[in-house]
Amino acid sequence: MFYPDDIIEEVRLHSDIVDVVGQAVKLKRSGSGYKGLCPFHNEKTPSFSVVPSKQIYHCFGCGAGGDVFSFLMEYDNLTFSEAVKTLADRAGITLPEISASEENKARQREKDRIMAVLKDAAFFYFNNLRSPSGKNGMDYFVKRGLKPEIMRSFGLGYAGKHNEVCAFLKEKGYTDSEINAAGLVYADEKRGIRDRFFNRVMFPIMDVGNHVIGFGGRVMGEGEPKYLNSPETAVFDKRRNLYGLNEARKSRKGYLIACEGYMDVISLHQAGFTEAVASLGTAFTEEHARILKRYTEDIRLTYDSDSAGVKAALRAIPILKSAGINSRIIHLEPYKDPDEFIKALGRDEFQKRIDSAEQSLFFEIHVLQRDHDLSDPGERTAFQQKMARRLSLVEDELERNNYTEALAAEYMMDSGMLKRAVESSRLIEPDPGEAGGIRSTGIKNDRKKSSGKNGLIEAEKLLLTFISDDPDRVYAAVKPYIEADDFSEGIMRICAGELFKQIEKKELNVGSIVGLFREPEEQRLAAAIFDTSLDTGLSNTEKEQALTDLVIRVKKESLKRQSHENEDDPISRTIREKKVLEKLTRVRISLQ
Ligand code: UTP
Ligand code: MN
Repeated sequence: MFYPDDIIEEVRLHSDIVDVVGQAVKLKRSGSGYKGLCPFHNEKTPSFSVVPSKQIYHCFGCGAGGDVFSFLMEYDNLTFSEAVKTLADRAGITLPEISASEENKARQREKDRIMAVLKDAAFFYFNNLRSPSGKNGMDYFVKRGLKPEIMRSFGLGYAGKHNEVCAFLKEKGYTDSEINAAGLVYADEKRGIRDRFFNRVMFPIMDVGNHVIGFGGRVMGEGEPKYLNSPETAVFDKRRNLYGLNEARKSRKGYLIACEGYMDVISLHQAGFTEAVASLGTAFTEEHARILKRYTEDIRLTYDSDSAGVKAALRAIPILKSAGINSRIIHLEPYKDPDEFIKALGRDEFQKRIDSAEQSLFFEIHVLQRDHDLSDPGERTAFQQKMARRLSLVEDELERNNYTEALAAEYMMDSGMLKRAVESSRLIEPDPGEAGGIRSTGIKNDRKKSSGKNGLIEAEKLLLTFISDDPDRVYAAVKPYIEADDFSEGIMRICAGELFKQIEKKELNVGSIVGLFREPEEQRLAAAIFDTSLDTGLSNTEKEQALTDLVIRVKKESLKRQSHENEDDPISRTIREKKVLEKLTRVRISLQ
């Protein structure tokens, strides 16, 4: 952390979260806090809350959350130090010169320098495309139907003669190693650096803050590779980047379209579908899904209609599912990809395909069916068994039944029979790579969610919320039974430790606990811990009962964990556990 903690706390003290968030979001009073429409995802009913007493914000819809600093970081796309500086300026606090560790400083300097190289390179390619020497590139884009506005908004460019960009960048004062670190060249000892991209049309890849972080370059016509992409660099991480998200995040359609490539995104945007993003040919990752979840829970996949596209879609579905995103498939038949489709049939027809996109589970079953000849009784049975197996992996009972009935009707089966097959299939534990080629990783994760581990985290969260809401009474009541080490390792334990320490010192400051974490993922979790909603209508006795249950639950798991950690023989372990559990059942929390 760059600034000393006490300065950060002073800035926090003078930056009321309601004022700061209130400048960006219309907030309405609700109970002891405020509610509003979440600025980080698209919604119609407010699930975004700001809690002044704890100085945190949290969205139940998309999971965004954190303290006053992280709000600015996410909303205005600032670094932590920039957020501190902005708020300090606003509050009239003078900051000391920042004392980053030498290592951090060097890393930040390198990143800044790479971004500068990339920005200048993008500028070069951009101008080149629009100059006489860029004629080939311009002709190519025009032939592909791109209009000048869209070329401009995507910053499209042209890399012409070999080593032009190298020369330009050196002229600007960048060193060979900086240009190399930006991924723009090949380097070797003998020949020095040489352009990676030449004689290609250029697609700059931007982050959500519109900074260029890499490039894709396409040959004009036939040639290998068709697209050449920047390698991973200190600023370009393929697993986390989605092409077009900088624009798509602003579209407010309620869903996002995920497709495969640069040209798909650009022609969709040109046709008015500015909600399109692409994972750029790399397999869809969990990071991609997590990022998308911040904007929507409804993704329409429009992958190429060839077998590679179908495979890619089948891989993406469970990844999206386990991030809590429902996906549908936009069918493009008889065309190959969205670009071709729109050229052939136009935007209205594409909108119809979006509206009639197929639920991914039906898609999975239909793909499965293609491998089976249903007129053959043996194959028909095999297909039905695989279908039952797939249905059995749907965790929610209502959902499972609805799908079962719909598919029974479609394949003219007795629905009672299919249901029984589904239920008996549920007795078999799923394992990865099973079920007729349909991967079920995502669905397995769903199962985990409803089982013990997550219930425990919920209990721990609730307990911490109870304590932070009414620290003096509740902390005093639970203190004899529970300590920070009883909480799950990681964020939960750190939060509990800090919370208890602050209460002991009579300096409770929940915002600063959330502020201990600087990774956005962790901040969100931490904010969610303290903003778990409590039923404030509870009577004292009900509260005592709830607290008793929570303390027992958390303590029990903690003891289990400890006895597993201490290697000893299973029999004495069981006896000891039993004794402790007996003692635990006598716990009664009482609030004064
Ligand atoms: P496609 O081959 O479907 O290309 O690859 P495309 O997007 O339809 O492009 P056009 O219409 O032929 O120009 C989909 C994506 O996979 C990545 C690119 O991101 C591309 O947009 N890809 C493909 C590569 O990175 N390298 C390649 O050689 C090919
Ligand atoms: Mn394609």
